[in-house]
Formats: sequence, C-alpha cells, structure tokens
Amino acid sequence: MNAGVIVVVSDRPDRSQPLVDAVRSVAECRVVGTDETWNQTGPLRGVIADITLSRPEAKRCLRLLSGRPGRARTPLICLTRGSGESTFTEARNLGATLCLSALAEPRLVVGSLVREVWPDKSVADLVVTREAQRAGSLMTNLFTSAQTGAIDMPSVERGVDPVLGAIQEGGLSRWLDEVWAHDDVTFQHCLLVSGVAAAFAQKLGLSAADKQLMTRAALVHDVGKSRIPHAVLNKPGRLDDDERAVMQTHAPIGHEILSASGGCDPVTLAVTRYHHEMLDGSGYPDGLSADEIADPVRLLTICDIYAALIERRPYKSPMSSREALSILSGMEGKLEGGLVQAFGRAVQDVA
Ligand SMILES: [Fe+2]
Ligand SMILES: [Fe+2]
Repeated sequence: MNAGVIVVVSDRPDRSQPLVDAVRSVAECRVVGTDETWNQTGPLRGVIADITLSRPEAKRCLRLLSGRPGRARTPLICLTRGSGESTFTEARNLGATLCLSALAEPRLVVGSLVREVWPDKSVADLVVTREAQRAGSLMTNLFTSAQTGAIDMPSVERGVDPVLGAIQEGGLSRWLDEVWAHDDVTFQHCLLVSGVAAAFAQKLGLSAADKQLMTRAALVHDVGKSRIPHAVLNKPGRLDDDERAVMQTHAPIGHEILSASGGCDPVTLAVTRYHHEMLDGSGYPDGLSADEIADPVRLLTICDIYAALIERRPYKSPMSSREALSILSGMEGKLEGGLVQAFGRAVQDVA
C-alpha cells in the first residue's frame, strides 16, 4: 500500500525537523517553504502548516493551496502559534481542517494526522507498512547486487532498524500480515525471518546490540539464494534430489558473498553458512553437530524453519502458527528444546 505524500510547510525547517521525522515514520514527507506555489506538487494526502499565519507570505501560500484542484479532499492541519479564538478563525479561513498548538508533541500531531487522512488505519499500521516497504526495497536491491557480485553491508544495516522499529511499534502479527501480502518468495521469507527473529530477540530480553545482530543476520541469511536458478528457487512443490543439492548450495554461497563483500560480522557469517545445520548432525552444508553450532545460529535456525512453515504461497494452504510450533516441537534432537519452548512463548500471539 502506498500511503501517499504528506507535505509540511515550514518557515523554520530546523525547528520543524522533529515533526518531519515523526511524519516520516508513517508516510513519505516533503518539506516546503512559504514560497511554495503548489504548481509542481503531485497528488497530496495531507498538509501540515508549521508557519506563523499572520505573515503575508504564509497567507499567500495557504491561499494558493486552497486554489489547487481537488484541494477539498486534502486535510490541512495548522499548527498555531497563538491561542486566541482569532488565531483559529484565521486558520480556518485559510482552509485548516484541524488546528493544533505548535507546542504539541510531534507524536500527537502525527496521531491527529493519521485520524484525518487515514481514518481506518492506526499509527502502528502505517509504521509497519512503511518500515516493511523500506526494509523490502533494501532487500530487493541487496539480492539484485548479490546476483553478480558483492553487497553493500552499510545498506543491510539500514534495513535493521525498520524491522526492529516495526516489531516494537506494531507487534509481530501486524508485521506478518504486511509481509504476507508480498508475493516474491525470497523477499517474503527474508522479511518473515527478520520480523520473527526481532520478536524472539525482544522476548528473550537481549541487549539492543544483540537484537540488531539477530535482525541483521536474519535479513541476509539466505542471500545465497540470489544465485540459485529461478526454476529451482520458485518451483512449486517438492524438489527432486538434484534440485535439492543445488538449493542447498545457497548456504555456502551466501557465506562466500558476505565474506567477499567485507565488513560483515562473524555472527552473521556463521548464521548464513550454518542455519541449516541440525544438532544431531543431519543438517547441511557441513554436517555440524551440537557443540559446533553456536547459540545465535540455533536461534536463527528455529526462526527460519518457523518462517518457512507459515509463509503464504498461492499453491498451498497457509499453516497456522500453532501447527508450525508443533512441528518445531517434534524436531527433538535436531533443535534445542528449551529454545523452541521460549520461541513458542515469543510468537504465542500470532494467529
Ligand atoms: Fe536457508
Ligand atoms: Fe531461510
């Protein structure tokens, strides 16, 4: 879903910055000055005027906005710097659909903006949509560059906070609903694993640094799939033995891509190579067992299997979280039982 552009008109952009940042958490936001003529502005979802209305250039700017075709459907929130009735009257005469004090907290202004512009959505819905879009487009670029060469680790880093922020703000269920709507298989899978890993890390009470580490590792763990032929990667149903062997190379290939890219932390490297290893030695690519598999890898392996089970594909009926958890519990000997139980508690709210 594209929520549309919000324009902030400001006569003091430095002081409007906290508001602009808050608006950007829910929608695309552009900042313009009072010299804006609105001639070149495309479709608008809403306008916030953070300007001194008594100034002639402010009045001129809002009158020009009122004259735009279709303006009647665009909410205009005026942040007023005076408190008397005359200030509100002036704002309404200039087309304001809502007046708030310029001293109002940016979060409060954004709450009002969302009610005015998207009455059927909550702030959390919009945050999650926006963060999923941000993380998703970063992942798309990442997989495209990984097809032929190295990846840019700082851009992976920029994908971490959107996922953590969305899970913190909106919870895992909202994130899953958003990500399930994307039909690209690998894209959906990486964002599912990242959201699940972020929620698990949060539930385990890990430090901020470790939460970032887990989320980052989850985002790139399957980057090796960028070099697996589409016919194998997107094959509906079961793979034959040859296809499975090709598919399994994604773990060492991913490790190679990250090593060659430079700047990748050892945990992410280990997760990428070993996330299909099992405690009983039955996994791939190296057939590691118990002590050879580090904790972050064990954790990510659980998130990965769960995400693969609950993913939504056109040709298969969706599996519930409860069914997926019972499959994980049945993998005794392969996964760490205590971690699987803790994981179950982390995702218990998912339908
Ligand atoms: Fe994988
Ligand atoms: Fe995976």
